[in-house]
Amino acid sequence: MASTNPIARLANKVAIVTGGARGIGECIVRSFVEHGAKVVIADIRDDLGKSVCEDIGVGQVCFIHCDVAVESDIEHVVNATIAKYGKLDIMVNNAGIIDEPKLSILDNDKSDFERVIGVNLTGVFLGTKHAARVMIPNCNGSIITIASVASITGGCASHAYTSSKHGVVGLTKNAAAELGKYQIRVNCISPCVIPTVIACQFFNIDDTSSVYSNLKGKTLEAKDVANATLFLASDESGYISGHNMVVDGGYSVLNPTFGLFSWPPK
Ligand SMILES: NC(=O)c1ccc[n+]([C@@H]2O[C@H](COP(=O)([O-])OP(=O)(O)OC[C@H]3O[C@@H](n4cnc5c(N)ncnc54)[C@H](O)[C@@H]3O)[C@@H](O)[C@H]2O)c1
Repeated sequence: MASTNPIARLANKVAIVTGGARGIGECIVRSFVEHGAKVVIADIRDDLGKSVCEDIGVGQVCFIHCDVAVESDIEHVVNATIAKYGKLDIMVNNAGIIDEPKLSILDNDKSDFERVIGVNLTGVFLGTKHAARVMIPNCNGSIITIASVASITGGCASHAYTSSKHGVVGLTKNAAAELGKYQIRVNCISPCVIPTVIACQFFNIDDTSSVYSNLKGKTLEAKDVANATLFLASDESGYISGHNMVVDGGYSVLNPTFGLFSWPPK
């Protein structure tokens, strides 16, 4: 399916989206294709990834198995993208996991902590490193990482997840500082809760559950994150780098249980 969009904002661009087989990543893939990009889905869920490709049309998108925590897998995806399309313009480090919600740190195991850090932070480091490897010679590129409101707030996710997402923002800033001399931009997007599979498992909700929103009558959707990603991927954001774009409808600037606008408590 070639793009029929008259204002294709990613025409002639090549992108990799990790974790693109479902959820937010899948929505980003569909949005990028709609805007004219060629997209490689890098995920561990082969069946889901391949079925997204079949649904979109194999001319615009392909699937490559990749565990982002394994350096040789990331290296392979980037090399295969260069072999197939000749370049890499956009790297979206979206793949992420969360551990079980355990309310006491005493119940948190080192192995679970390291597993989450391995995917959410080390995976982003590896994606950024290997994208930069092929972008540096071209002096061009946009690297985008999907973090979370847990990158700027405490108390809304597990210790491992919150630590990983704070780390991702630090990595984003450091990589932006280094790679600016090659005209490579590095940015982060931090969404609030969207009832995808990991959020439903963690918060014990389902995909029809209503989630708190500071924007009356609106609910955050994967499409909102895809729109922000599209902007940071496109040339429209050409002078934006090192930024953590929070997509939460204003949630993180208030504490809904305590404050001028919510007192006295109901
Ligand atoms: N849903 C939310 O509420 C929410 C909020 C803030 C941030 N995020 C972040 O958005 C990103 C996408 O999450 P989602 O909600 O779409 O979750 P999801 O579980 O629906 O999708 C995650 C995708 O990542 C893939 N994945 C997991 N581990 C991987 C690995 N090691 N290598 C490659 N792929 C792997 C999965 O197979 C899946 O396709 C994550 O980084 C998550 O932390 C989600």
